[in-house]
Amino acid sequence: MNPAEIDEARAQAQALIAACSEPNALKDLERRYLGKSGVLAGWLAGIPALPPAERPQLGQAVNRLKRELGELIVARSAALEKEAFERDAAAGTFDPTLPPPGVERGHLHPLTQLTREVEDLFVSMGYQVADGPEIETDWNNFEALNIPPDHPARDSQDTFYLDGPGPLVLRTHTSPVQIRALTRLAPPLRVIAPGKVFRHEATDASHEHTFHQLEGLVVDKHVSVAHLIHSMKTLLRGIFRKDVEVRLRPGFFPFVEPGFELDARCPFCTSGCSVCKQTRWIELLPCGLVHPNVLKAGGVDPDEWSGFAFGLGLSRLVMLRYGINDVRLLLGGDLRFLEQF
Ligand code: DAH
Repeated sequence: MNPAEIDEARAQAQALIAACSEPNALKDLERRYLGKSGVLAGWLAGIPALPPAERPQLGQAVNRLKRELGELIVARSAALEKEAFERDAAAGTFDPTLPPPGVERGHLHPLTQLTREVEDLFVSMGYQVADGPEIETDWNNFEALNIPPDHPARDSQDTFYLDGPGPLVLRTHTSPVQIRALTRLAPPLRVIAPGKVFRHEATDASHEHTFHQLEGLVVDKHVSVAHLIHSMKTLLRGIFRKDVEVRLRPGFFPFVEPGFELDARCPFCTSGCSVCKQTRWIELLPCGLVHPNVLKAGGVDPDEWSGFAFGLGLSRLVMLRYGINDVRLLLGGDLRFLEQF
């Protein structure tokens, strides 16, 4: 290798690149000159064998050529692309409104889809959508909901307690948003609050440390169980797209009195199936009339106002709707699962 040889290669390569009219041929040229076993790599590998005095000058000359050819190839490639684009445009075969090939569109998570649907339903009934933080005070999560520190109801909500300026928890349910709504909004009020909740669970197919609930709270004058039942039936009609019979069983939750478990007629069968475990009823949501202590804790006078509340398990509802048999799939992030929705 000598300076004349390098100049000759430059001239030849420039001519070939300029004459190249095909992207694949350009790639071949790039490989031939700049590839791992290309002309220039061969020269550079030979430099240590040259007399020391010639090495710097020739090394620099080869590197300069490498840079020049690299730039020429990039420019030629862009020019070829532009030519192809203009050719297609002129022929009318290029549709700029088509999505680029190979780009996959994402979609909303099934939980988000259902949440939005249920939100729309309640908004159509005059509810507003409220939000609360996932890190809550012990007061909002428990005490204001009529669950004092030594209350056994705390045992059923295995809690992640946090170190903080005061007693803080990862909220174990969306019910603390009831307190936030009561203290911020003046009754009459209708609020729903969807969101993530956390429990220190041993996980299995029906238990997960993180899941989703949707809280509902209505406070007005003379609110009764009849109002509660009507709202729940409207909700079920919206979700299952047909009238669904419901029944109430007594249920204990410190923040409601009376408290109920609301069951719905199994929407999937007429004579028993695996979803309803052959009972024809599915346990759908706990609910009740707001306990006076909760109203008081939220600064609302229980002699003047009354209300109902409910806690819908959004994760459970998604599972019911799509026949998902393991709650851990919901937040597992496995695309093979998520792409089915
Ligand atoms: N927060 C309760 C839980 O997660 C569920 C619940 C029960 C919510 C009754 C309510 C209610 O609003 O009235 O276990």
